[in-house]
Amino acid sequence: MPGPTRGARHLCDVAVTARTDTRTSEVIYARAAGLMPGGVNSPVRAMRSIGRDHPIFIERGEGFELIDADGHRYVDWVCSWGPLILGHAHPDVVEAVSGAAERGTSYGAPTEGEVELAAEVCERFESVEMIRMTSSGTEAAMSAVRLARAATGRDPVLKFAGAYHGHVDGLLAEAGSGLATAGIPASPGVTKAQAADTTVVPWNDTDAIEAAVAEREFAAILAEPLPANMGLVPPEPGFLEHVRELATETGALLVLDEVISGFRVARGGAQELLGVKADLTVMGKVIGGGLPAAAYGGPRTLMQRIAPAGDVYQAGTLSGNPLAVAAGLATLERLDAAAYRRLESLTGQLAAGLRGAAEGLPVSVVSVNGLVTPFFAQEAPRDFAAASACDLDAYGRFARGMLDRGIYPPASQFEAWFVSLAHDEAAIERTVDAASEAFADALG
Ligand SMILES: Cc1ncc(COP(=O)(O)O)c(C=O)c1O
Repeated sequence: MPGPTRGARHLCDVAVTARTDTRTSEVIYARAAGLMPGGVNSPVRAMRSIGRDHPIFIERGEGFELIDADGHRYVDWVCSWGPLILGHAHPDVVEAVSGAAERGTSYGAPTEGEVELAAEVCERFESVEMIRMTSSGTEAAMSAVRLARAATGRDPVLKFAGAYHGHVDGLLAEAGSGLATAGIPASPGVTKAQAADTTVVPWNDTDAIEAAVAEREFAAILAEPLPANMGLVPPEPGFLEHVRELATETGALLVLDEVISGFRVARGGAQELLGVKADLTVMGKVIGGGLPAAAYGGPRTLMQRIAPAGDVYQAGTLSGNPLAVAAGLATLERLDAAAYRRLESLTGQLAAGLRGAAEGLPVSVVSVNGLVTPFFAQEAPRDFAAASACDLDAYGRFARGMLDRGIYPPASQFEAWFVSLAHDEAAIERTVDAASEAFADALG
């Protein structure tokens, strides 16, 4: 039996239990809760918003499946929240990473792989001529904003309610994803000055953004071109184009955060799919193939401001890490035209299947290539307020019901389901069969 250890005498009120031979999720969580806030290293993983009292601890992943500490198998629709577009432990990625590891895990010096990855990214994104790699999307977004401020000589930035750009202090205002899930309006610890530099406007609201740019001179207008952190809420026709025009007219840089959409919705991300070009692009997730890597990029004229070419400082011990670069390159190599066609077909099948399973119920399924969200509302939301007004308790019941049936959906309505190339028709059929029962149970 797990017994309290030395940690229990410390200040925290959660008993720290010892490691045992029986390692179910529940037992591991009992130990984790005393050692890590909420027992996790990132909030949504705790699964609290869907009403579970402990998270599911993962033992391994195989293709489209997750296997938990209790030995349960799940069809995984989270795929590490996006990076695993090839699924778990893809042989090419495993081989690339092990090959890189054998040569050394980090040098703190440049490698040719980074140059190859930069060339691949610049070839895919028309608006990107140069990139700087970071280890996380948060850092990439933060650095892009710094560069935008340096380039424009202005401080304020505009973001959209429900958009998440990582946990950058000034960008936490009305962010979606885990922040929305936890119901935290904005985080304590963010200074008034940082918050004051951020203006938040509702997504898809032309009047609101026009009013905001008339009132303030922004360094950057920051947008997820296909917002997926309030669930998937695509721009209404013409909205993103109008945002682009307003940025150009007012001298603000349009920073498109393609951490989710990049390399997923099309070869060249949302910019290719929607035909709108960014001044600066933020990338993450798929670019690292499941290892920590992200980047920001844009035209040479802007990127040359970054140190050491220019005066805007930004650095990282593990930036461009050789293992992450190897995983990213191996992943991008597989993402050719045929791969995007297949992803589109799988996404369409999943979305249609979920729609069918929810027929007659107040559920609205939204999808774009590689991303799907079933909203628990009759109408698909057009902004964060509408997404927040969905029946979140019903989503929680549904998600728990799916987990009980061997399907692993995001533990929050404010996320997208991530389709991978490892998924297949059988995985979708399993999911849709489970969803037919879970929708009825959740809303019955
Ligand atoms: C659109 C977007 N931007 C930025 C981030 C932050 O990336 P990271 O979690 O790698 O810091 C995320 C993370 O989910 C994201 O979805």
